[in-house]
Amino acid sequence: MAGMTADSPRQVGANEMAGDAFLRVAHLGKSYRRRGSSDGTEVAVLQDVSLEAKAGEFVTVIGPSGCGKSTLLTCIAGLTEVGDGTIEVDGAAVSGPGPDRAVVFQHASLLPWRTIERNVGYGLELRRDLSRGEIRSRVARMLELVGLGEFAGHYPHEISGGMKQRANLARALVVEPKLVLMDEPFGALDAITKETLQDELAALAGRMRRTTVFITHDIEEAVFLGDKVVVMSPLPGRVAAELPVPFPRPRRREVTAEPEFAALVQRLRGLIQTAIPASQSGEER
Ligand SMILES: Nc1ncnc2c1ncn2[C@@H]1O[C@H](COP(=O)(O)OP(=O)(O)OP(=O)(O)O)[C@@H](O)[C@H]1O
Ligand SMILES: [Mg+2]
Repeated sequence: MAGMTADSPRQVGANEMAGDAFLRVAHLGKSYRRRGSSDGTEVAVLQDVSLEAKAGEFVTVIGPSGCGKSTLLTCIAGLTEVGDGTIEVDGAAVSGPGPDRAVVFQHASLLPWRTIERNVGYGLELRRDLSRGEIRSRVARMLELVGLGEFAGHYPHEISGGMKQRANLARALVVEPKLVLMDEPFGALDAITKETLQDELAALAGRMRRTTVFITHDIEEAVFLGDKVVVMSPLPGRVAAELPVPFPRPRRREVTAEPEFAALVQRLRGLIQTAIPASQSGEER
């Protein structure tokens, strides 16, 4: 298959054709052994979590600290074993990590001895089915897209924190994953860099239409980036509400000044504060 870039048509899987959910998390439950417990007591971290993402949908997830957001993400990534329930991506059950899912964490774990270009190309090198020339051109295209074209030859210590996170994003996207999973990728950045990267990700999301689950603490960020926002309740994490975001794409910064934007943020803030499980409130689902 020809290389899929931001501008070329996306590969369409069976479930995309049917218009079904592309990611389907159903009745997910997860417990951890209580630390230091000798009798094996467990703490429920996720309880009956169900959520879906349509092909190309950008789903943001918010919730109070410690409610299990990262656990949910690592379960979808296949890095954490699930307790109850099922996770399906494009019709296939998730049973471990795989190249169909790329994860972006808060801290860019770039290899210090590789240039930015070779960090971003690492996942493609591992595939062994691409020529060096093909890898170089795919990486170059992706670096241009994230605004790092001129820094291909730099080493991680030679670029700023924001640039590192751009490189991290490029590294995840260049392998053309079916699903992009992001856990507070901008959480450690200063406010201005964060806004710039949010703008760029919103533009990229509008062009690439890649199915994404994006975890954040930041309600404005969730509304600005998401097609829908999933609100989780405090421990054990459950889905308390799910709200569609009505603003069209491409989405620009100006949308944040609109009264509807502020109203949605306010509504979500209220939902997080109360975070009544959907089963009790009947809210939004
Ligand atoms: N490997 C682990 N072993 C035991 N307990 C864990 C483990 N990972 C997470 N937990 C516990 O599970 C709960 C949920 O953690 P998780 O990191 O998923 O929350 P979170 O919503 O991402 O929090 P934050 O917003 O602070 O990032 C926490 O109480 C945490 O202490
Ligand atoms: Mg977390």
